[in-house]
Amino acid sequence: MADADGAPTAGATVQVWQTASNQLYDVQDDTQPRGHLRATFITDECGAYAFRTILPVSYPIPTDGPAGQFLQSLGRHPFRPARGHFLISAPRYRTLVTHLFLAGDKYLGSDAVFEAVPRRDAGPASGHALGHRRLRARAGLRRSAGSW
Ligand SMILES: [Fe+2]
Repeated sequence: MADADGAPTAGATVQVWQTASNQLYDVQDDTQPRGHLRATFITDECGAYAFRTILPVSYPIPTDGPAGQFLQSLGRHPFRPARGHFLISAPRYRTLVTHLFLAGDKYLGSDAVFEAVPRRDAGPASGHALGHRRLRARAGLRRSAGSW
């Protein structure tokens, strides 16, 4: 995590969340404990944080309401590409809400809500002998104009 000048943003709060392997978030699924696949981290003096998790999966948005009817009228599928969500906040900076999509997801080019965009600085996940994948990404925070 860094600011617009590239300085590390130490002490930033990073909230992360993702779907489980059954395509549902904890708040959509009574079989998952509340807070499942959600966490909060504080960046270190280098502006870094790290965690290990399962791979998120692509999932359909609800199709039983107007959004589903709209997509159906367009002949579009309801799937969102797999991704992790991030809400990053720090004093004197604007809060950043973003997500990182996984390279190779079959819905990357046809995200049901058109949010998936390629980023130059999001490196590809690298292979690992134990079947893990590692993802490194950079995020930048902008200074807030006010006192919040
Ligand atoms: Fe989502």
